[in-house]
Amino acid sequence: MIAAAMTARPGGPLAGRVRAPGDKSISHRALILGALATGVTEIEGLLEGEDVLRTAEAMRAFGADVVRHGEGRWTVTGRGGFSAPDGVIDCGNSGTGVRLIMGAAAGFPIKATFTGDASLRKRPMNRVLEPLGQMGARWEAAEGGRLPLTLKGGNLHHIRYRLPVASAQVKSAVLLAGLNAEGGVEVEEPEATRDHTERMLRAFGAAVHTKDGDIILPAGQKLTGTHVAVPGDPSSAAFPLVAALITPGSEVTVEGVLLNALRTGLFETLKEMGADLTVSNPRASSGEHVGDVTARCSALKGVVVPPDRAPSMIDEYPILAVAAAFADGETVMRGIGEMRVKESDRIALMARGLEACGVDVEEEPEGFIVRGTGKPPRGAASIETAGDHRIAMSHLVLGLAAEAPVKVDEPEMIATSFPGFGDMMRGLGADISASEGA
Ligand code: S3P
Repeated sequence: MIAAAMTARPGGPLAGRVRAPGDKSISHRALILGALATGVTEIEGLLEGEDVLRTAEAMRAFGADVVRHGEGRWTVTGRGGFSAPDGVIDCGNSGTGVRLIMGAAAGFPIKATFTGDASLRKRPMNRVLEPLGQMGARWEAAEGGRLPLTLKGGNLHHIRYRLPVASAQVKSAVLLAGLNAEGGVEVEEPEATRDHTERMLRAFGAAVHTKDGDIILPAGQKLTGTHVAVPGDPSSAAFPLVAALITPGSEVTVEGVLLNALRTGLFETLKEMGADLTVSNPRASSGEHVGDVTARCSALKGVVVPPDRAPSMIDEYPILAVAAAFADGETVMRGIGEMRVKESDRIALMARGLEACGVDVEEEPEGFIVRGTGKPPRGAASIETAGDHRIAMSHLVLGLAAEAPVKVDEPEMIATSFPGFGDMMRGLGADISASEGA
């Protein structure tokens, strides 16, 4: 039975060592590049969340042999390209899945129809259709370039594309299409975004160059199956770490966290707020930096987050806003209009949710300001999450250290990115449990 709601109750300190689930961005890419490559790709540490499982299913539909061997251990046997799928490709809740797969599929002379859940069907796909169209792909989409849409690829040609929004998904879609474009592609990136696609393309044997913020993928790249060790997801590690920072007496270590500088904006910001956050055992793994991150409960103060830090922490503003609610003073988060087109309008939902918990929040068109008092907020609220996993987890973390419990609806959506969230948090001592409807 699916619980109608989940409740977090304030309790004692959190303590322990846990492993973050596999990085979602890297997990999608490992499956997609594995399917595009020739030969076998062995993956360990794959995130087995709903979003990534949809991508695995999609890769099967495009002709790859995708097999699960045990927890996080998968192989993908690629055929060096995609063949026409029989049915509709349903990417569920995943913007990363659908946008990257559309880019990859556009390179082949096949037709494919894509759809997703109610949240994904509202999200803008024009941002990838625009460059793919410039390269020669064709499509028919629902109003406003939304899902469901049918894409017809093949015969792509070179473009030099300047990203109009700082989006790793758009960059990746263009690069993946570029693998099969005459003349390759060049992407101009005004603001650096996560570079996992570039790194992984190299690991699969492709020559990708970067020059003054441009990413150049020359024509004629061949991908060969390889081994991918997926590091822990910093976007998921953020929840137990912030929970420890705000819950008196806590000390929590999350092991094996990806520390790519294009993903660690939250950690940097938390340190500026006075967080006792330390990294131990730094190491390299499959071309990425990882380490064990320890958080100890800390007195936090409000800060102004530099807007140019947004791409390196775009998914972390909801949980940062929770940390800000416990901090003393104002935390100003601006230049984050992109948050409004994520799984939900995350600025609006965080503002509403925090207000319901008694926090002083000011919403702006492209950001928000949270005013903390240095004391735990009241809590005692039922939160509508609009089916957004990060909105749900953020408010549950708040409930662990608020004055009174916090309940969230649609808790099953947490499994899109962090299927073991409840168990992991309970293992650390958190009082989080299924409850009656919100
Ligand atoms: C992702 C990029 C980000 C992020 C998403 C994952 C990726 O989106 O929000 O969760 O894996 O490339 P944008 O690139 O659209 O900002």
